[in-house]
Amino acid sequence: MTKIKAAITGVGGYVPEYILTNDELSRMVDTSDEWIMTRIGIKERRILKGEGKATSDMGAEAVKQLLHKTGTKPEEIDMIICAVVTPDMLFPATANIIADKTNIRNAFGYDMNAGCSSFLYALTAASKFVESGSHKKVIVVGADKMSSIVDYTDRATCPIFGDGAAAVLLEPTPAPEGVMDAILQSDGVGRIHLHQKAGGSLKPPTHSTIDAREHYIYQEGQPVFKWAVSKMADVSVEMMERHGITSDTLNWLVPHQANMRIIEATANRMGIRKDQVMINIQRFGNTTSATLPLCLWEWEPQLRKGDNIILAAFGAGFTWGSLYLKWAYDGDKILK
Ligand code: UT7
Repeated sequence: MTKIKAAITGVGGYVPEYILTNDELSRMVDTSDEWIMTRIGIKERRILKGEGKATSDMGAEAVKQLLHKTGTKPEEIDMIICAVVTPDMLFPATANIIADKTNIRNAFGYDMNAGCSSFLYALTAASKFVESGSHKKVIVVGADKMSSIVDYTDRATCPIFGDGAAAVLLEPTPAPEGVMDAILQSDGVGRIHLHQKAGGSLKPPTHSTIDAREHYIYQEGQPVFKWAVSKMADVSVEMMERHGITSDTLNWLVPHQANMRIIEATANRMGIRKDQVMINIQRFGNTTSATLPLCLWEWEPQLRKGDNIILAAFGAGFTWGSLYLKWAYDGDKILK
């Protein structure tokens, strides 16, 4: 019997219009374009402005574009997972809010929070539902309004993050293309280095948590950097070995966009050239759950049926992983 796989059959994306440049940041905190470009590799990031605008608004834009491009009606969608660390509110799930805003009424859905690995975890979970035969049209949307938890007085974190969203449609296929394999890992020992101190059940919001600025991202950059460099490369190299993929047969690495130096170290360990790596960190920064699908969205016209692609991420938790997929369609033949 032919094994049913889950294939990505379309990508939609959305980034807000407002561009926060390094020059503007240099007027807000003691930093410079030179420091940010050398240490992180980000030139600018997008910021969602406007009263009442949330993560779900960006997610909904990405999903609407995805439905349009793939000619899918909202009522055909039977599942939607939202990868997110900045949900609109603690409950209900942002997946439910996005479904409502896009008129998706026949789907069940939930949020997946695995730090910057959220999209990778969500894509893996979604592919299992499709492979089992229980669900036929599944949306995985990665969306984050990081500007809602960035402390714009902290020069160590504020240059890194940006806002954005992108979504993929997963459908069953008997063809050789689709999601082939995933390696997902986590180690909670790393949670002390990257987290949000207050706002959850451990430390509900009070005047003092606000005065202590505990509702913003807390990150110890160096330990996170060290773990990210080794773990993202470990699982990417392991994935190549498992499937006999070489630097010649890998078409694309899609790495989480946290730091250009982490991306380059991962590519070096895999023995691949920079032109095999999707990199848009210069323009979008670290959009957390949206980095991987935003890359697929931007590179879609260049993708060809059968391309070997490895996605890799590392994030809060710590969480990390890699996912191998064979691209299922010629990206330049899709409806625009
Ligand atoms: O997506 C989730 C996973 N997150 C990551 O992967 C992030 C991993 N970490 C990193 O990317 C890097 O550690 C950072 C970009 C966060 C920081 O870079 P770094 O090279 O590790 O810098 P550092 O924290 O060691 O700081 C070096 C110096 C310090 O000054 P002193 O103590 O040497 O005088 C900082 O105060 O750079 C200073 N510094 C800055 N200077 C100018 C820190 N931030 C800035 C800044 N502008 N924005």
